[in-house]
Amino acid sequence: MNKPDLKVRIGSLEMKNPVTVASGTFGYGPEYAGLVDLDRLGAITVKGICTEPHVGNATPRTFETAGGMLNAIGLPGPGAQGFIKKYLPFYEKYSVPLIVNIWGKTVEDYSRVAEIFNDQARIGALEVNVSCPNVKEGGALYGTDVNLFRTVVDAVRVRTQKPLIVKLAPNVADIKVFARAAQECGAEAVSIMNSYPAMAIDIETRRPQLANRTGGLSGPAIKPIAVKLVWEAARAITIPIIGMGGIYTPEDALEFIIAGASAVAVGTASFTDPSSAVRVIEGVEAWMAAKGIGSIAELRGTVQA
Ligand SMILES: Cc1cc2nc3c(=O)[nH]c(=O)nc-3n(C[C@H](O)[C@H](O)[C@H](O)COP(=O)(O)O)c2cc1C
Repeated sequence: MNKPDLKVRIGSLEMKNPVTVASGTFGYGPEYAGLVDLDRLGAITVKGICTEPHVGNATPRTFETAGGMLNAIGLPGPGAQGFIKKYLPFYEKYSVPLIVNIWGKTVEDYSRVAEIFNDQARIGALEVNVSCPNVKEGGALYGTDVNLFRTVVDAVRVRTQKPLIVKLAPNVADIKVFARAAQECGAEAVSIMNSYPAMAIDIETRRPQLANRTGGLSGPAIKPIAVKLVWEAARAITIPIIGMGGIYTPEDALEFIIAGASAVAVGTASFTDPSSAVRVIEGVEAWMAAKGIGSIAELRGTVQA
């Protein structure tokens, strides 16, 4: 049986297989290095980083729900310079492409962090997280207001030559509007989806289960939402989509590719089994080989809908 060609391109970023890990579920990489051969992955996407170090939210900041988990971690991180000093040297011994997820409280924050990372040769692409609170503009979300969304993507685009992936928020009326806006603003790809805004309450104390009160739902519970959003976006744009949301198995990943994703990310699944992403790669390859499918491009977007 011939080995299928698993290579995909996300803009100018080449991945030897279509599987990365979802930002925030794989630390900065070293945390998993003793458990997984990092070079097996198509890319590593690290936890979100902004210009300055950030402490994140009070605890409890995670809560298990039926079919998933809620989190309101609040984007703790070492800041751009901290990441460059503490984590980038670690990647010298690996060839796996590195996608750095960035966020900001203001448009200036986004563009500054993009600029700082622009001359770091080891960074293969930037993924812009537009689903965090917009402090300056009064609490709206950059990911759900298309004008703010365009402002952020434009601001990042002019400050970096790196391939730009824009991570879309799921809680919008029409994902196609945001996918098209990302493409028009010069993004090389979009990733779909971030966790879904959600809440859980302890009925005895009548208090929210998360200190932040609300959080983001991830895991198998959101997979059908994510598949639908990928399918809708795929028909609206020509740039590649990285699909994510509840991918645990090779079959889950194949579903996203058939819906129209060029690549996928394994997120919450890495918490229960750190080797989830590698199992997904192996299973996708075996399934394609068994079906005589030669490449991801042959499979992508082939849903009969
Ligand atoms: C604990 C946790 C932390 C996360 N941190 C980030 C982050 O820093 N930046 C980001 O863009 N997405 C973050 N996400 C969202 C994931 O990257 C992913 O989009 C979402 O969890 C859906 O995929 P999944 O269901 O496979 O986990 C986080 C998710 C979880 C569960």
